[in-house]
Amino acid sequence: MKISLRTRLFLGMSGLIVFFVAFSLVLNSQFLGRYYIGQKRASLVESAKMIDNLYKGDPESIALELENLERNRGINISILSPDYELKYNTSFRLFSLEHGRKLFELLPLPPHMMMELQDLDIGEYIMDVATDPRLKTNFLALAARLSNGEMLVLNTPIAAINEGTAIANRFFLFTGLLTIVLGGIAVFLFANRFTKPILELNDIAQEMSKLNFSRKYPVQSEDEVGQLGQSINSLSDQLDKAISELKEANEILKEDIERERRIDKMRKEFISNVSHELKTPIALIQGYAEGLKLNVNEDEESRNFYCDVIMDEADKMNRLVKDLLDLSQIESGYLKLEKTVFEVSAFIEHVLEKFRPIFAEKGIRLDVKNEKSLFVYGDVVRIEQVLINYLNNAINHIDESKIIRIEVTCRNNKVRVSVYNSGNPIPEDSLDKIWTSFYKVDKARTRTYGGTGLGLSVVRGILEAHHNAYGAENKDDGVLFWFEIDEAEC
Ligand SMILES: Nc1ncnc2c1ncn2[C@@H]1O[C@H](COP(=O)(O)OP(=O)(O)OP(=O)(O)O)[C@@H](O)[C@H]1O
Ligand SMILES: [Mg+2]
Repeated sequence: MKISLRTRLFLGMSGLIVFFVAFSLVLNSQFLGRYYIGQKRASLVESAKMIDNLYKGDPESIALELENLERNRGINISILSPDYELKYNTSFRLFSLEHGRKLFELLPLPPHMMMELQDLDIGEYIMDVATDPRLKTNFLALAARLSNGEMLVLNTPIAAINEGTAIANRFFLFTGLLTIVLGGIAVFLFANRFTKPILELNDIAQEMSKLNFSRKYPVQSEDEVGQLGQSINSLSDQLDKAISELKEANEILKEDIERERRIDKMRKEFISNVSHELKTPIALIQGYAEGLKLNVNEDEESRNFYCDVIMDEADKMNRLVKDLLDLSQIESGYLKLEKTVFEVSAFIEHVLEKFRPIFAEKGIRLDVKNEKSLFVYGDVVRIEQVLINYLNNAINHIDESKIIRIEVTCRNNKVRVSVYNSGNPIPEDSLDKIWTSFYKVDKARTRTYGGTGLGLSVVRGILEAHHNAYGAENKDDGVLFWFEIDEAEC
């Protein structure tokens, strides 16, 4: 069974009180009587000496002193002449002198003491317990020969002594019980007060072991308990700090590991995507080259077809490798922008120049909305690459309405160029993903125009290098891609 410190302290101290009270009680009951008799003996001897000093033969002359001894020390005094005549007796005053002889016979002195008394020299005394046959009580009796040759007999009742010690013992029992009760209450209060801070510290330490550091010890004293409280408080603070730092470091570590894992996964995906994208054109080139070799004698038209396919696929590979190089340059941070100031509408016109034949061939209607002449600041070659990617995508995903609209707006020192094409919307959850490498919304459709899914990631890299925004939104009956470029300070 677990006994608390408070209970143990209470029981221990109460036990000590009970032990000492009981011990004193035993001592009292065993030795108080003897001690008292010892004291009485000494008192008889002292009284005898005193009487011997004062007494000169006439008891009357020291009546006051004798009465004083009788009253205050409870001593019965008798003085006998050398021929055993009773000259004075405490009870004597109550009776007539004629009864002197009889009274002597009543002297409470055992016969052996009577005998010895005769032989006592001056100044000598004997002492013993005598029994009064008349009263049937015990006496402590002292018989002495006084300096003038007379004899002195003193006695004091032992019954009175016993009664006195019994009263003292009873009183001590009462005070002992009172001491135990009051002492118990005092010990209880003390144990409570003394152990309260220790129990509180124990609670706090237990909370700390459960990693709860919010509870603090209210330090109120400068003693050892107060110092312990202070140490526990500072330990709690330091542990709290260390553990939160550890948690933080652990969190960062977890994030790092997670990022590493993601990067690793991305790298693997990238490599598998690249090899996949390269495999198709290589297989085609290989196949058509072999076909060309076998059918070298066939008609020119089919030879030209074979060559066209090979050239086409080689071109696709070329574009792929170029995009990959661009991407790796951008992602490794080696992309060096050569920024210049140029006018937007002229720039757009210049790019569109290259597209007009395609638009015409495909029957695409082109709208260009250009506010005014705007000058921007950026790497014109890279921005052209962005616009070309948007336009190529627009051509590849245009629907039967065949509308492409280019719009230039200016707001907050940013010039926004947007390319809209009529067509099917991009699913909302893909709007973010199309900017990552090799992501294609509709793989089958992308295959028809030979897309690799790298165009928009190159766009993203270029615009992020410019610290400019970009995005894609679904519009009514079409899709709008946009990018921003810094307006040049005029
Ligand atoms: N204007 C658009 N309308 C609808 N979907 C589009 C449009 N532009 C891009 N997409 C989708 O986004 C995907 C990613 O485009 P991205 O330009 O990166 O690659 P791609 O055009 O397929 O190949 P390439 O590397 O040749 O550009 C496309 O595969 C297509 O699914
Ligand atoms: Mg593209």
